[in-house]
Amino acid sequence: MGRLDSILADITTLQVDAIVNAANQQLKGGGGVDGAIHRAAGAQELLAATAKFGGCATGDAVPTPGFRLPAKWIFHAVGPVWSVARGGSAAEDRADSLLASCYRRCIELAREHDVCSIAFPAISTGIYRFPPDRAARIAVATVNEVLDESGVEEVIFCAFNDETHALYCDLLR
Ligand code: APR
Repeated sequence: MGRLDSILADITTLQVDAIVNAANQQLKGGGGVDGAIHRAAGAQELLAATAKFGGCATGDAVPTPGFRLPAKWIFHAVGPVWSVARGGSAAEDRADSLLASCYRRCIELAREHDVCSIAFPAISTGIYRFPPDRAARIAVATVNEVLDESGVEEVIFCAFNDETHALYCDLLR
């Protein structure tokens, strides 16, 4: 039975087997947590490692080594862009299921790579503008659904601001 926790931290500093990146489909780096991970891991090695995948679909994730990070692995997940212009509940449902798919895929990758501890950032809630409360509910519910059969012992929801940390703490209480 795995444990779920939340902390307020820079995910690049965490001593876990795997950290998750909030990447984009091109896997060529960017701002936010993606930029921080590239700087801390070593951008050159990381870009060379992600290049061999030729991109990643939204809702999917791909693994690379952690290079200079304390974490052994980085799972690069591509979350959905929340678009208010697109609107409508069908589009929102689709975004919800793509976000859930990111968490599910990362737990699958964790099982495949014998990862015991994994840390997630709040995927899609920065530059991709997914509502943080909705994203936190999806994150916790999805991990709870798939954790038991995965062998993962510890899941950390790594918040980078107080609001997100409070959301996770409420959900995990
Ligand atoms: N550690 C933990 N969390 C962080 C860090 C960090 N060092 N830096 C930012 N965050 C948090 C943000 O506060 C936000 O809650 O990660 C969450 C996700 O925000 P973004 O990094 O903006 O990711 P996302 O919304 O999924 O957008 C992805 O941003 O830079 C690009 O290449 C990336 O195009 C992709 C897009």
